[in-house]
Amino acid sequence: MAKPKVRSELRFILNGTDVALADVAADETLLDYLRLRRSLRGTKEGCAEGDCGACTVLVGKLSAGRLVYESVNACIRFLGSLDGCHVVTVEHLRGEGGKLHPVQQAMVDFHGSQCGFCTPGFVMSLYGLWMRTPDPSVAAIEKTLQGNLCRCTGYEAIVRAAQAISSYGAAKKDPLAGERRQIAARLAALRDGLRVEIGEGSGRLVVPASVNDFASLLKKEPAATIVAGSTDVGLWVTKHMRAISPAIFIGGLDGLRGISEENGVITIGAGATYSEAFPTLAKRIPALGPLFDRIGGEQVRNMGTIGGNIANGSPIGDTPPPFIALGGRLTLRRGKKRRTIALEDFFIAYGKQDRRPGEFVEAVHVPIPEKGSRFAVHKVTKRRDEDITATLGAFHLTLAKNGTVAAIRIAYGGMAATPKRARAVEAALLGKPWTEATVEAAIPAYDLDFTPLTDMRATAAYRQLAAKNLLRRFLAETSDTKAPVTVTRQEAA
Ligand SMILES: Cc1cc2nc3c(=O)[nH]c(=O)nc-3n(C[C@H](O)[C@H](O)[C@H](O)COP(=O)(O)OP(=O)(O)OC[C@H]3O[C@@H](n4cnc5c(N)ncnc54)[C@H](O)[C@@H]3O)c2cc1C
Ligand code: FES
Ligand code: FES
Repeated sequence: MAKPKVRSELRFILNGTDVALADVAADETLLDYLRLRRSLRGTKEGCAEGDCGACTVLVGKLSAGRLVYESVNACIRFLGSLDGCHVVTVEHLRGEGGKLHPVQQAMVDFHGSQCGFCTPGFVMSLYGLWMRTPDPSVAAIEKTLQGNLCRCTGYEAIVRAAQAISSYGAAKKDPLAGERRQIAARLAALRDGLRVEIGEGSGRLVVPASVNDFASLLKKEPAATIVAGSTDVGLWVTKHMRAISPAIFIGGLDGLRGISEENGVITIGAGATYSEAFPTLAKRIPALGPLFDRIGGEQVRNMGTIGGNIANGSPIGDTPPPFIALGGRLTLRRGKKRRTIALEDFFIAYGKQDRRPGEFVEAVHVPIPEKGSRFAVHKVTKRRDEDITATLGAFHLTLAKNGTVAAIRIAYGGMAATPKRARAVEAALLGKPWTEATVEAAIPAYDLDFTPLTDMRATAAYRQLAAKNLLRRFLAETSDTKAPVTVTRQEAA
């Protein structure tokens, strides 16, 4: 293969300014760059782990020829992921003579800011929403702000401010809307199709030119860190001070973000973010829709990828259990060679996946449930919004004409060292009438399938009980049983 042409600087647009950087470390975050190198200190650091939203900025990227702006967490976003993007910080909202932007003026007038530390992050999230939806519903505002935490205001004032923004100005006349065309043209001009490589040897950061380029790079350097949305890898750096170079940034590869459907199977490129993948998933498999709002906050959903959620092998990742229950498969690629395996077989043990050196996750294939079959997924957390799973159950049932269980796949997160099927429970249900008596007779099989852990999210007993109750809930949702059986905590004792 011919040696690829390489560029040795990152190029992006920051507010109105073109930036070309030849001195970038693989682990340099956008937040550090803004605050320390550019003195743009409107963007704040709160948690440095993607939870609080104080560091929210907008990132614009060309997607299928359209310029799309998304809110992201600058604290866990690496500079290496920004080649060819437009970064918009709160400073860019300043009007002539320092005039406040409509979003800012609404926040002032409706008392949406007290100590003010969280305010720039709220302003940027609301700005992103207002550009898409100038008159948002309260539900849309709340969903947008799931990833912005405020300790002072109690949120009501912020929601009122968000509803009032359009009375201060028209979104269509906003400066960012006005400059959209020229920014899109400037971003298109930055796309030279070259690989970006900065630094030397093991200290390098690389942005591959294409998926083929990525495949050949990783084959040669299997120990390199793959960075997709960095919602996990970002925390390795900010919380664990881990070195990540050489790092290969794949988030900008269009060839890894495809979403298609053929013969009743949805194929999602590993690099598709939650925000990119879920509209299709929710349309074709409606029971998956509500799960979207339960994953992180909007910034995390705009960054985190489906491939990263699978490849990280976490036992509490939210997409593997439903995909396993649906009979999902995974395509892995090394160089030009591909293999496709059942998704459940990818997860071998805690921290151990069936991924060979130099291989990467290329796509996941999710079958759409057949007509007449029933599918549900339920996530149990301490807090409704922006919380990590204590246990998550996914159920896929096909009944025979006589009301017996013809096929059933049940998979859980948070119940074992990996996402795992409840095979003993499935066996206890198969061929039996889909009734309360059958389900209750199958409940003891949970103790054969799972020995969950106690941790800060839940005790082992709580997890086991919640998992059992999710099956009872699924029965109630799919049969004439009027209400879930009431089960007390004593059952778990
Ligand atoms: C505030 C916050 C809230 C969160 N909430 C949730 C939640 O509710 N539910 C949930 O499931 N997760 C949650 N997460 C975890 C995280 O968002 C997801 O696991 C996400 O999908 C990871 O994807 P990523 O693209 O960001 O991965 P990255 O951080 O870029 O990578 C994760 C791992 O996967 C590897 N990797 C990435 N892509 C590939 C590939 N194509 N092939 C091989 N290896 C690859 C990386 O090398 C790394 O080991 C949360 C994270 C944060 C910070
Ligand atoms: S600083 Fe809290 S999300 Fe970035
Ligand atoms: S105004 Fe103080 S944290 Fe939000």
